[in-house]
Amino acid sequence: MLNTDWLFFQQALLGWYRPDRRPMPWKAIKDPYAIWLSEIILQQTRVEQGLPYFERFVAAYPTVVDLAAAEDDAVMKLWEGLGYYSRARNLLKAARMVTAEHDGAFPDTYAGLRTLPGIGPYTAAAIASFAFDRQVAVLDGNVFRILARFMNDSTPIDTGKGRKHYEALVSSALGATQARTFNQAIMDFGALVCTPRKASCHQCPLADQCASLVAGTVYDRPVKEKKLKRRSRYFHFLVVSDRKGNTIIEQRGEGDIWQALYQFPLIEVDRDGLTTEALPQQDGWPDWLPADQLKLTRRSPPFKQQLTHQTIVAVFHHFTYPELPGEIVGRQVVKNKMFSNIAFPRVITKYLADKTLLLDLF
Ligand code: ADE
Repeated sequence: MLNTDWLFFQQALLGWYRPDRRPMPWKAIKDPYAIWLSEIILQQTRVEQGLPYFERFVAAYPTVVDLAAAEDDAVMKLWEGLGYYSRARNLLKAARMVTAEHDGAFPDTYAGLRTLPGIGPYTAAAIASFAFDRQVAVLDGNVFRILARFMNDSTPIDTGKGRKHYEALVSSALGATQARTFNQAIMDFGALVCTPRKASCHQCPLADQCASLVAGTVYDRPVKEKKLKRRSRYFHFLVVSDRKGNTIIEQRGEGDIWQALYQFPLIEVDRDGLTTEALPQQDGWPDWLPADQLKLTRRSPPFKQQLTHQTIVAVFHHFTYPELPGEIVGRQVVKNKMFSNIAFPRVITKYLADKTLLLDLF
């Protein structure tokens, strides 16, 4: 690729860019803490949905030192709804590391930022360029798409080799332009013009030299080598309550999804369509729960949650139990009114938000 092509790319992109086309409260600031928070949140959700989370985090924890001192459960609760809770756990770990090992000041280089938990190449490049004016280009989904289309490049993006290839491309594309502006511009461009579907090619400032537009391959770029395979998991939650409005919950352990979040006692099976009657015979039925004393009051339809590599199909079985045991190892008895203060996985909050359920039972 000739240098002149990148000059065209840079001029077209930066000529198109206006900071106020996609206003974001963190665009105008250079505080690495706010930039880091916003970038981690935006990895989970779209800007409109992420903004209230960002505002709640900054209000609750105005500095990284405040966040470092937070209770784990309180941070999980603030994160609720964003999913992928390992990001929230890493947020806390990184805040504590910055506070304990760096005197509350974020490292100001790409390499230094990469040493923090949860800060990968993208986030490190974003913070290094936005907060510290380091000359480093971001490589996120937008950038892969824009470059693969502009060059009509069919190198798969999801291999180590592909990644290196696009890293080299984006750093040529950045050239000597100001990284903070280039990075912001290319992400806005990916969100507003060169979008995954229904791209605005007819009013695209890069159209004149866009190789995939000529080749008719815009929607075939970028290429991925591996097709995403999702496995299904069938979760049966036992919602065991007494008549006074108390219910049993437990905290999830390590080594699986939703680490440290709360749930109702769970039986997982490997097939769809299990009846409620068959539950007590399954592996994992709690031995503290005598099936013959339970009264089934409701069985929910299946609720689904898509994770990156898994589809969770959850059915909720409501039972009343005359008197809940006071002490059950590893579990807690909570007032149903307290549910809104507890960090549950999204599929459970979705279920609890079901109006008919609230009227019926809680
Ligand atoms: N998406 C994630 N971070 C962004 C940013 N800083 N600007 C535009 N889009 C983004």
